[in-house]
Amino acid sequence: MRMMRLLAATAVFALPAIAFAEDRADMAKVDKVYADMFRDAKGEWAKRVELDETQKICSQYYNDLPQAEFEKVLAREKANVVMPADGKVMGNWKSGEKIAQSGFGLRFNDKPGTINGGNCYACHQISKTELSFGTLGPSLLEYGKIRKYDPEEAKRTYAQIYNSNAVQPCSTMPRFGHNKVLDEQQIKDLVALLFDPESPVNK
Ligand code: HEC
Repeated sequence: MRMMRLLAATAVFALPAIAFAEDRADMAKVDKVYADMFRDAKGEWAKRVELDETQKICSQYYNDLPQAEFEKVLAREKANVVMPADGKVMGNWKSGEKIAQSGFGLRFNDKPGTINGGNCYACHQISKTELSFGTLGPSLLEYGKIRKYDPEEAKRTYAQIYNSNAVQPCSTMPRFGHNKVLDEQQIKDLVALLFDPESPVNK
């Protein structure tokens, strides 16, 4: 009987450990599969297979970043943000909506010269009229209105789209400006989509 109890207790305590072990991928294996997938990548693309300092730390700690590491990532990524030279962060919301809708660009079957999109709807609800959206990120409905169209919030949002990790270390949101997916004007247009009172996001 005592043995049974002991076994039961062991099972209870062992369970979370097993679940934890199964949650964690073997990173060496993952790295190898990943590198194999891109073994013909050249130039800029070959470099992209390697994790940068921030990505390494985020992979090491998963969602459990110690405070000191959090601060380090935040400082490094903040320093990477390039704000517009003219100090303006608001572009044209109509162009912003097209960029948010577009998932084109940077794919192996895109024609050369394809303009990159932001594919923002893949993770966010943005305007009320678009019913097809992902929910990995929070809803951005009424984004500017909720923030009282505060110009400082608009700047912060520019920085977040440019480099999500400068606001939220280890974010799963792509670093659009930092990784040269979107250019300055495109990010301004997206900020306008979120902050222009005339944008459908705020209606
Ligand atoms: C792969 C999913 C993904 C994509 C694609 C994505 N985001 Fe995000 N976004 C997130 C997540 C997750 C968050 C929550 C905060 C975090 O973890 O960074 C977020 C947060 C945000 C925020 C801040 C929200 C808040 O309440 O403070 C804004 C603004 C934003 N995203 C805009 C965009 C725009 C604009 C695009 C397209 C250029 C985009 N996102 C594309 C996942 C994504």
